[in-house]
Amino acid sequence: MIKYVPLVLTALAVIALSGSAVAGDVSAGQTKYTASCASCHGANGQGMGNFPPVKRHSPEHTAKVLALYKEGNQDALKEMGLGNQFSLMAPNASALSDEDMQNLGAFIATL
Ligand code: HEC
Repeated sequence: MIKYVPLVLTALAVIALSGSAVAGDVSAGQTKYTASCASCHGANGQGMGNFPPVKRHSPEHTAKVLALYKEGNQDALKEMGLGNQFSLMAPNASALSDEDMQNLGAFIATL
């Protein structure tokens, strides 16, 4: 049993490291969100008027949806019940990198 301990610890370290890479950087996401998103979705992601709330979405949901707006994939958005106001949201996603989307997803999940 003892001889497997280093192996298990290595495996856990790999999982922890890959997990943090996928999860994105909350603080970088917050900076981006405050500058580019809060004016419509609210400082706490609560939404405003016609602008839907974004809080409580999982990081995976946020990153996926942002990629769909960037790609202009309105069919996939419609299947998710989104896209009625596509033209208002798409320009905000067009300049985001994959890393930005991961970071925004990580931050929005904390709201
Ligand atoms: C000009 C106002 C505006 C700005 C700025 C804006 N959005 Fe949006 N956003 C919208 C609107 C309107 C929708 C709904 C679009 C639709 O009907 O598909 C939306 C939809 C979304 C959704 C989908 C919500 C859901 O339920 O899944 C997410 C996620 C989102 N925005 C994130 C962001 C992020 C992150 C930023 C900053 C990079 C941002 N938005 C900037 C107006 C805005």
